[in-house]
Amino acid sequence: MKFAKRMNLFGEGIFARLAAMKRQKLSTGAEIIDLSIGAPNIPPPAHVMQVLAQEALKPENYVYAITDSRELLAAAADWYRRRYGVELDPASEICSLWGSQEGLSHIALTLIDDGDLTLVPDPCYPIFADGAKLAGSTLFYMPQLKEHDYVIQLDKIPADVAARAKFMVVSYPNNPTTAVAPADFYERLIHFAKRNDIVVLHDNAYSELIFDGSTGGSFLSFDGAKDVGVEFNSLSKTYGLAGARIGFCLGNREVVKRVKLLKSNIDYGLFLPIQRAAIAALQSPREVIDATRAAYVERIDALIDGLNAIGWQIDKPKATMFVWAPVPKGFGTSEEFVTTLFDKSNVLVTPGSAFGTHGEGFVRMALVQTADVMRKVAAQVKRTLGG
Ligand SMILES: Cc1ncc(COP(=O)(O)O)c(C=O)c1O
Repeated sequence: MKFAKRMNLFGEGIFARLAAMKRQKLSTGAEIIDLSIGAPNIPPPAHVMQVLAQEALKPENYVYAITDSRELLAAAADWYRRRYGVELDPASEICSLWGSQEGLSHIALTLIDDGDLTLVPDPCYPIFADGAKLAGSTLFYMPQLKEHDYVIQLDKIPADVAARAKFMVVSYPNNPTTAVAPADFYERLIHFAKRNDIVVLHDNAYSELIFDGSTGGSFLSFDGAKDVGVEFNSLSKTYGLAGARIGFCLGNREVVKRVKLLKSNIDYGLFLPIQRAAIAALQSPREVIDATRAAYVERIDALIDGLNAIGWQIDKPKATMFVWAPVPKGFGTSEEFVTTLFDKSNVLVTPGSAFGTHGEGFVRMALVQTADVMRKVAAQVKRTLGG
């Protein structure tokens, strides 16, 4: 058998090594605390699960959906109006996705010809780079550095690179750095994209998980955004629907049109009960999201207060469902530290280098354990750090 070269993109990466380490340790009967993968574990509101269950019992809901229902598109448009003050035409400016991950990978196929250039952040959520690479793109990495509060410095992108780039992926609140970008960044971004004729993909998976009392916004709320790009949004974290796989691509109608066209050749639409559950979720009262946010704050306090108390100084995240922590001094690279920490403390985190060169020196912890479990982390980490 001969396989495509593109499969070499998915070699024995760090995530495979982490999974192997985890399997090995579990086979010894050890109890581990896994903070490595960002799989949200806060369930959807009860009324959303009820809708999903009721709709799943209707035989007529097992047909191919083919397209998004009018009600689903209207619910997404209403949500954007209510939540961000953004007006969207449901028919031409919104398209559902099998999770934003699916959209972020497939959209590159609508934008990239072999050898074209894509701008992605470093460190970044892996699909931003992988989707572009799978489509045959060359990548240019835009550093997200602590000294700039992890906000991309658009003026550092060389003019010839900007001139060649087809599209760029940007995402705040940011995974893994947990940073939020200021409004003037988005104004500069839109200006930069217009000047260089670059399509912007803004991933907004975490606008509801901001912890400093401010309210997250949308890229699409800035003047001119719809002229240059689209936003990806997801019900995975906001409404606990990660496993149901539903997200949206919204904004520029030329981009949305091509995503729809591509998807119409790949899939037959979202399972109707999921469409109905998503409508129920999008129409939920605000308190649903407030409760989710409060649960994350409790986890953050439990985890970080404990780690700070044993001498590992970590800032509390402003947003997202992650902690971006510096590797303590004397423990080598982020990957070496992760291995030592797991060996000695049974706590599994992700090395920053897994997200790109500029992630080195950090580890990412996902807030995917309850506050009670988070309170146990420091005592275990102490076995590695001493103190
Ligand atoms: C920044 C970012 N975008 C997208 C996703 C994937 O979301 P979805 O479940 O909608 O595919 C994640 C999941 O962790 C994420 O962190």
